[in-house]
Amino acid sequence: MEWNWKTIIEPFKIKSVEPLGITTRAERETALEQAHYNLFNIRAEKVLIDLLTDSGTGAMSAAQWGGIMVGDESYAGARSYYNFEAEIKDLTGFDEVIPVHQGRAAEKILFGAIAGRGKYIISNSHFDTTRANVEFTGAEAMDFPVKEALDFDKPAPFKGNADVAAMEKFIKEKGAKNIPLCVMTVTNNSLGGQPVSMENLKAVRELCNKHGIPMFLDCARFAENAYFIKLREKGWAGCPVREIAEQMFELADGAWMSSKKDALVNIGGFLALNNKEWSAKARQMLILTEGFNTYGGLAGRDLEAIAIGLREVLDENYLQYRIRSSAYLGEGLLKHGVPIINPPGGHGVYVNAKKFLPHIKPQQFPAQALACSLYLEGGIRGVEIGTLMFGKRGKDGAFQAAPMELVRLAIPRRVYTQSHIDYVIEVFAWLAKRKKSIKGLEIVEAPAILPHFTAKLKLAK
Ligand code: F0G
Repeated sequence: MEWNWKTIIEPFKIKSVEPLGITTRAERETALEQAHYNLFNIRAEKVLIDLLTDSGTGAMSAAQWGGIMVGDESYAGARSYYNFEAEIKDLTGFDEVIPVHQGRAAEKILFGAIAGRGKYIISNSHFDTTRANVEFTGAEAMDFPVKEALDFDKPAPFKGNADVAAMEKFIKEKGAKNIPLCVMTVTNNSLGGQPVSMENLKAVRELCNKHGIPMFLDCARFAENAYFIKLREKGWAGCPVREIAEQMFELADGAWMSSKKDALVNIGGFLALNNKEWSAKARQMLILTEGFNTYGGLAGRDLEAIAIGLREVLDENYLQYRIRSSAYLGEGLLKHGVPIINPPGGHGVYVNAKKFLPHIKPQQFPAQALACSLYLEGGIRGVEIGTLMFGKRGKDGAFQAAPMELVRLAIPRRVYTQSHIDYVIEVFAWLAKRKKSIKGLEIVEAPAILPHFTAKLKLAK
């Protein structure tokens, strides 16, 4: 469908609704203090617009709910597994389809089988859980983003790409035998939800062929990536998004997916590959930690909903609305002088808090301070990606400034309408005028590992 109107037409009707958490500013002030300025500690019912994550927070369709009712809950050989397997095989072309309860379970199983001390995994950028699972085996996770990815202000069509020359240099330095896998994360979540071009995927594929290194996709947001290729890459405008997605998979030796994103479900994931030796090892761990081969930590109904979601997500009317919604939010923020990673990503917008709040020094957590103000003034919940999340500390135990201070506004799929997004822009416009009054924060207490989830903070003096 051609779309030239300014209004975003959500391409669905709403059949079931949930009330938003409407609170007063005074209630939010109390909630924020009780949560120790950590938004992970806020009860969701006290949040008006929840942009903490796009993971597992989407709305399922009537067809998916229908699938839930006919899910086959047999322990072994459930019909729902075969529907799930057939759908994934058809899309990805991989022979071995292993269900898992979410993305990180696939990472744990895969890297447990192939990584380990002395090994390196190379990537455009590892997502946090991917990195953590690589490092847990004793291996090192190496990121090779392109240079333009780090210039937040200047737009470029494929800031998710890998720097192929830098990757090759690294392979030559460390030896291909020490690099069991190359992972391309599509879209690149850690650096702004930016897409990877088909050309870059092909270049990485060729590099991997040359050195005998398998290439996998971390394909949580594969449909958004494919749609960006259609929109932005020369030669793809006329190709159906499903075919673009199939070609992305064709370039890879395997993939894993957190289905909580582009499979439009609330829980689930898979690992899919051709290598029989790796899949046999992965299945051993699967049975040990997730469940039997035909359910892998999921209920039959979940498998059914994933199979349906993987088809629905490639509807181009849906993708048009999805990508347009994120762009609309990004454009709205830029209009009010709020700096973002430009262009906006597929699953949301990343606000550059370092640039927005230059009066707050990194040790006083500018991105966390902005996220808290956004909640206090508008009941909106985003997530800090900065000094608190990266959590690196000096010898004195003090937090060291992270290279970036971002607030990610991730948009749940099929949940909010254009008027909700207009409201978010309005709150930002209001905040932009008063940003000098936003105060930094200081730590009250913080654990050593993953401090952002449970740290306690207070307003800095
Ligand atoms: N890979 C990518 C690219 C991800 O974005 C995520 C999760 C995972 C793997 C792990 O999957 O959560 O199902 O175990 N991202 C979520 C987020 C948590 O908020 O960006 P999971």
